[in-house]
Amino acid sequence: MSSRAEQPLPPLPLSTKARRTREQPISFLIETALRNPGLINLAAGLVDPLTLPVDECAEITRRILSDPSRGRAALQYDTTVGLRPLRQKLHEHIAALEGLAPRELGFTSDHIVVTTGSQQALYLVGDALLDPGDIVIAANPSYFVYTGTLQSLDAKVLCVPMDDDGMDVEAVAQLLARLEGEGRLPRVKLIYCTSYFDNPTGLSLSVARRKRLLEIVLSLRHRQRILIHEDAAYRELRYDGPAMRSMKSMDPDNRHTILSLTFSKPFAPGLKLGYTAMPDDLLHAVLQQKGNHDFGSANLAQHIALEAMRDGSYDKHVAVLIRSYRAKRDAILAALERFMPRDAGITWTHPHGGLYVWLTLPPSVDTSREAGIFDECVSHGVMYVPGEYCFQPDELGRIPQNHMRLSFGQVDPGQIAPGIERLAQVVRAQLTIEYSPQHVE
Ligand SMILES: Cc1ncc(COP(=O)(O)O)c(C=O)c1O
Repeated sequence: MSSRAEQPLPPLPLSTKARRTREQPISFLIETALRNPGLINLAAGLVDPLTLPVDECAEITRRILSDPSRGRAALQYDTTVGLRPLRQKLHEHIAALEGLAPRELGFTSDHIVVTTGSQQALYLVGDALLDPGDIVIAANPSYFVYTGTLQSLDAKVLCVPMDDDGMDVEAVAQLLARLEGEGRLPRVKLIYCTSYFDNPTGLSLSVARRKRLLEIVLSLRHRQRILIHEDAAYRELRYDGPAMRSMKSMDPDNRHTILSLTFSKPFAPGLKLGYTAMPDDLLHAVLQQKGNHDFGSANLAQHIALEAMRDGSYDKHVAVLIRSYRAKRDAILAALERFMPRDAGITWTHPHGGLYVWLTLPPSVDTSREAGIFDECVSHGVMYVPGEYCFQPDELGRIPQNHMRLSFGQVDPGQIAPGIERLAQVVRAQLTIEYSPQHVE
């Protein structure tokens, strides 16, 4: 007699890609936050829930849907590349960010693809360019969701160090020279760079390095066309310091750079809309992949974004966010100054924008997920992102384990100081140094 229960099924024959793809650490961090509702969450890279533009979006949606023909258009599919008037508006918007007239940009609105978040653009560009084993150069540390995407595409991520001026572009030049010497230049397809208020460090690529990076890819262009993918997700969240032109704006023929921006950070992640300006020949390949993904991002969201840009609510909202996040940035820096022991080789970045501060502890303090300090922090009611997620191994397979990514995006302003105080208590307990009396409350 046979019953279904007696015949265990063989494992589902997943694709090589599915088997290769690892879970993004973000899932585990979200689970930990949900299991500990009282936690001060300095890990979440989420935007501030209290500043989300609920009234503006309600009013805009009402306007769109109360006009039957507009409502019907918004609830219908649009094109794979994205709503034309939105792309025109975005072209003007990028020009304004660059301090240029739209005609001074090296690309038109026809070179802009609207995507389902800028994450989709990161994925699609990789999908269109990378075969297994192809090389992407990035900074160490880098945005870990993107490096996870590259791992899933079976690309090889080669990393260069970074400092307060961003990615070390001379190290990029040296790496490219070495790869060329080894005959591997044809495998190099992309240089990925979060040029504004980086995730995870909060730091930006200096103007001199932007120019130099472009110069490096131009010098190789007849042997290998390597594209710089500039991820500018946090560009508009600038609290102080000079506005900087993108590398895309320094690429007058639109041949060597890709510029990705998003509505998620400066407006509302729930719209899940990003937009990317890219070279013509890449655009066609990307659109074919996007045709397989979703043949167009949510059209209602695109209409809402367009209206927000047209009626001024987008710009007003960015101004509100800048004020609110600047205060939070100041609060986290002040709290670090107040609570973190300074005499133990502990340092942190001082970002001029974005949502992150990057804390470097002495090598003896292991911040990794498996080390006790992570759970210790959670039991003290505070959570951070272990820095290990943001690094690729060096040539000896080593990954630094003494960093924390701290985000001030989602956390309530009144919780920042207590959160850092709890974190500092755990760090202090890990240090073997005598704690200096001026830090004791
Ligand atoms: C550096 C960076 N790039 C891209 C993204 C993707 O965001 P979205 O897909 O919501 O535009 C994020 C999100 O956190 C990010 O931090």
